[in-house]
This record gives sequence, C-alpha cells and structure tokens, in this order.
Amino acid sequence: MDPFEYRGEQLYCEDVSVSQLAEEFGTPLWVYSQAKLVHEFQAIRDAFAAVDPVICYSVKANSNLSLLKILNEQGSSFDVVSGGELYRVREAGADTTRVVFAGVGKTDAEIRLALENNILMFNVESEAELVAISAVAAELGVVAPVALRLNPDIDAKTHAKTTTGKKGNKFGMDIERHNALADKVLADSHLELRGIHMHLGSPINTTEPYEKAAQKAFDVVTELRAKGHKTNWVNLGGGFGLNYRGNEAPPAKTYADVIIPWIQKAECRLALEPGRSIAGNAGILVSQVIYTKREGGKLFIIQDAAMNDLVRPAMYDSFHRIWPVRPGVAAPADFEAEIAGCEPADVVGPVCESGDYLAKNRWLPEVHRGDLLCTFSAGAYGTVMSSNYNSRPRGAEVLVNGGEYRIIRRRETYDDLIAHERV
Ligand code: LLP
Repeated sequence: MDPFEYRGEQLYCEDVSVSQLAEEFGTPLWVYSQAKLVHEFQAIRDAFAAVDPVICYSVKANSNLSLLKILNEQGSSFDVVSGGELYRVREAGADTTRVVFAGVGKTDAEIRLALENNILMFNVESEAELVAISAVAAELGVVAPVALRLNPDIDAKTHAKTTTGKKGNKFGMDIERHNALADKVLADSHLELRGIHMHLGSPINTTEPYEKAAQKAFDVVTELRAKGHKTNWVNLGGGFGLNYRGNEAPPAKTYADVIIPWIQKAECRLALEPGRSIAGNAGILVSQVIYTKREGGKLFIIQDAAMNDLVRPAMYDSFHRIWPVRPGVAAPADFEAEIAGCEPADVVGPVCESGDYLAKNRWLPEVHRGDLLCTFSAGAYGTVMSSNYNSRPRGAEVLVNGGEYRIIRRRETYDDLIAHERV
C-alpha cells in the first residue's frame, strides 16, 4: 500500500495533490498519510494476532500528538523513553497501564511519573536503575513492575549508531547480571518481575536476529520460572525494517512466523515496540529548490530542507528516495541506478556545513528554482530529530485523510525561535 503516488504529472498523498499542500502551507512541509499509518499498525497487529500482542508504538519515531491519537484509537499502546514522551502519550488520551518505559537514564522524577501513571512495566537497563526504581516505589508505597533488558549479544547488522543488542553497547545487561538482578527482584517487596526485554537495533531487514532473540527469551523465561518468578511477558522491542529503497524490508508476517512459535512455547504475553515500520512510509518531506549551481564538476541542487529538518543522511549516511513533485520523467524502480534523462546531483540544504545534504550523486531530472522535491520515507526519525540549527524555524506538518487534510503542527515563526530566551 503506497499512499504517495504519481497521478498524471504530479505526486499525490492519498487524494490530495502535494503541490497544492505546498502552495497552501509552504515548504519545508511534512505530509502524512493517515491511511498508511493505520495500515502499517494493523499489518503488525494482524500478523501477530495468534498471540494477541500488546503493540507499543515507539513514540520516539514520531511523537506528533495527532499521530499518537490516531494510533491510540487503533488500540496501540506506547513505548516511551522519557517523561516528555509519557506526557505526550497521556495528552493523546492513552491508557498508561499498557505503556512500557525504556532508556538507560531514567531519573527519579521520571520513575515517579511513570509509577503514578501505573505503567505496564519499566524496561530496566542496569542495577543502579533497579535500585532507584525500588526506592521511588517504596517512597510511594507501591510495587514497581519491571522487565530486565537483556543484551543478548546478537549482531543485527544495522548501522553502528543504531545497533543496540551487541556486547559493548550501552543498553541492557548480560545474561549473568540479568539473572543476578532477577534474584534481587525476587527478594524486593517493592519490585515485581513481569518479563524480559530485548531490543536489537534498527532497522533490521532479516528475521534471524528476532528468531535468536525469541529463543533466548524462551530459555530465560523457563529458567526464571524454575526459580519461582511469575514472569509472563516477552518484549522483543522494535526495529522491523522499512522499505526506504524498494522492497528490502520483509512484511510483518515474516517476522511473526519466527517469533510466534517461541512465544506460544513460553506461554507468555508478547509486547512489541515498532516505530519506524509504522510511521516511516506514512510521511514525506516536501522542499522547494532555491538555486542550482555547478561547481568543481558537480551539480548541486540547493533546496529549503536541510540537516536541521532531516538529519538522517548527515548522521547515518541514510538513503532516502528523492524525486520531484512534478517530475516530467517517470519515477524509476531503482533510485540508485543511472536514470535516462537524468543527471547526478547532490541535493543539499542551506545550512553552513558540508555534511548538510539529503542525497549525494543522485540521478535526478533537471530542476529549476521554485520546483518542489519530495524526500520519501521521512515519517520516522524525521521531525523528532529536527532542530533549529542555523536559526531555521521547523516546517509545518499536515495530515491527509482521503481527500481531506489538516495542519497537525504549525510552521514555527522567527518569534518562536527566541520565545524561550525572553527571560
Ligand atoms: N524500542 C527501543 C528500546 C528502541 O531503542 C527503539 C529505537 C525502538 C523500540 C523502535 O525502533 P524502530 O521500530 O523504530 O526501529 N534515529 C535512528 C533510529 C534510532 C532508533 C532508536 N531506538 C534512525 O533515524 O534510523
């Protein structure tokens, strides 16, 4: 299901022309498809239906309140990593008793907020954190539900900056510490061990890492139960792949096929924390060409979206498809190949750094000042990682639903840039 398609001469999001949106709301502009967001959530829910999972959408991927509300209406739960994300989830009207809370640096204030909101469980990353959670729970006179985050030392073969389940990463704990902490939980009346948590990295386009993790979870749960724990949750985190290029990511069912048998065997509830695979291809970034220039034997397309808007190419050398909104040349199947009628160009922004690019050496049709470009697969880790670097106001966000659309975040103004400095 692709809600962004070229009809006639131009790009549409569902039934709305993207150039019409750019004209009305300006650029840079983030455009989301409600149908795609819902479709991807439902695809995961349906693929895992046999074990009735709790799908905790990973808020960090895209935390826009309107998107959270839509997912909440779909029955999604949420994975949060900060008090701020928990606040957003609450504002979206979510039932916080199904929220999971991960992250290596939860503060006492965040732990207190989570306990007051009765979350499903903390994904605990260290002994020091466990001690802190127990202390805050004792202070509040409650029992804190926890899952211990295991670092299973599985190589998910993702970008070095987004792999999390390998020995040497800051996340989770090794199996020896995991087991030792499980014993501590058993002896602590303010803690209850609900399950085991793992998150291997992101994005993971193969199923083997999940199969290994699910098997590992089964082994651990079996051992814990033998020791007297009532643990009955397996949380395998997020990380499912996304089609940035074409069809490189397996469908949800392929992951489900290797995970479900182990969950059934373990007789556990399953929690998942997908973010990218739900929001990623529900969003695009629309920009406008300011100038083109040729220098040093290269063509540069300078447009008004920059690394402060979408930092992924600068930060991870990530690939995002880019194509004009009104191309005149049919969009290719392979955006990395040489394309007839096109010329390789660097698509760059106005920020004063050589790392400020959205694409390098990309075959694109001839574009001119004022033309619109679309950067695809920008729905996840786009706006959430944006900044005001170079004092650039963030762009607006628009949500399309069929033939209708509405603003879900207004464009920032120059005044917004200094509002917090008027002290
Ligand atoms: N659960 C945990 C504990 C995580 O750390 C993450 C992502 C997720 C779930 C969701 O993973 P997803 O399903 O979205 O792949 N900024 C990077 C991605 C960082 C991912 C951080 N953790 C990027 O733009 O690629």
